[in-house]
Amino acid sequence: MTDKVIPIMDLRQKNRTPAIPATLLAPTGLLTDRLMRPLHDLRISVTDRCNFRCVYCMPKELFDKDYQFLPQTDLLSFEEITRMARIFIDHGIEKIRLTGGEPLLRKHVEKLIEMLSRLKTHSGRDLDITLTTNGSLLAKKAQSLKDAGLKRVTVSLDAIDETTFRMMNDVDFPVADVLHGIDVAHAVGLGPIKINMVVKRGMNDQEILPMARQFKGSPAILRFIEYMDVGATNGWKMDEVMPSADIIARISSEFSLQQIDPNYVGETAGRWRYADGSGEIGVISSVTQAFCQDCSRARLSTEGKLFTCLFATGGHDLRALMRAGHSDAEISAAIGQVWHKRTDRYSELRSADTVGLPRSANKVEMSYIGG
Ligand code: GTP
Ligand code: 5AD
Ligand code: SF4
Ligand code: SF4
Repeated sequence: MTDKVIPIMDLRQKNRTPAIPATLLAPTGLLTDRLMRPLHDLRISVTDRCNFRCVYCMPKELFDKDYQFLPQTDLLSFEEITRMARIFIDHGIEKIRLTGGEPLLRKHVEKLIEMLSRLKTHSGRDLDITLTTNGSLLAKKAQSLKDAGLKRVTVSLDAIDETTFRMMNDVDFPVADVLHGIDVAHAVGLGPIKINMVVKRGMNDQEILPMARQFKGSPAILRFIEYMDVGATNGWKMDEVMPSADIIARISSEFSLQQIDPNYVGETAGRWRYADGSGEIGVISSVTQAFCQDCSRARLSTEGKLFTCLFATGGHDLRALMRAGHSDAEISAAIGQVWHKRTDRYSELRSADTVGLPRSANKVEMSYIGG
């Protein structure tokens, strides 16, 4: 028996089943929402489990042995995920990112990648298929992921200093194993590899320069992420956010940087390159410079709920539609209607809030919905 309150248990059930529209409009590949934002990027969470307990994401005190992860029967099967992906692609998706939890913990995830890699975009091009991982199983799996059709990987790494990294992942996982995973991924051609470092002031901000030094001159693109108020369990405080402008200033104290143009509209990261030509870094300013204006990302949770914002308090139950036997045309029209009505811009509203904290205990966890 535990007296702990875990708000996410309730939230995982707080979902709506989308209505099937009376007229089934065929997808055009050009779906837009109320703010004229297209649907380009689908992030699919394939497990809510993780072998790390990062302090800002799955704090050990809550995600302990009593914590109830989703039962296997609640997860979408690979066939269901692929069916969903196909329907989303017809609405304009060009990139699919597999997330978790830790996606490499999902059994036979290579099989899913193989199934997804056979799909083409609405205009007949190859999909950009990528995956966000903590790197712990990467050395073992990189080759089979590549063979299955994965194009590239993004690896989370919050520190290069052993003590700091172990403190952040909270399971004593060594830095060297992640670095080895990155090397193997590079060797098998899963590039360009991006390294994501969440910066929490007072915890790992002293690692900004050592991380920059580590990856400068390597093919990896290191990206610094402002610590966000996702979920309800990480006890987020504004003064723990290290603004991207300060991160750039700190790196500029040692290396000369030049700003460069985004790769695509709605890119999360602001891009910079070392003036001496030794590589690129990025800053993701989700708190100090929200990028909702061009947000074209949809998220499919482990058990098939569609979330139209990382900070949503509820999802749209697509699994219910599938398991009730609805046709592709019906589910497609239902998704079309959800996206068409979308007005989410949580981060922009948070920035506009003079108190800076639109507190809600009802947001879903990042480990459940996927980064
Ligand atoms: P690329 O395809 O390589 O450009 O990846 P990406 O930057 O779109 O995706 P990634 O998952 O690497 O995003 C990096 C981090 O940015 C995430 O871990 C989040 O912290 C943050 N992020 C990504 N998408 C969103 C979003 O839609 N809203 C907010 N507020 N933050 C996001
Ligand atoms: N703030 C910013 N990014 C986060 N992630 C998880 N929690 C947070 C948070 N509170 C992101 C990190 C991690 C990925 C899995 O999710 O980028 O690498
Ligand atoms: Fe796991 Fe990633 Fe969350 Fe860390 S940030 S606990 S590696 S899902
Ligand atoms: Fe998109 Fe919501 Fe993130 Fe804004 S806060 S960028 S709308 S996911």
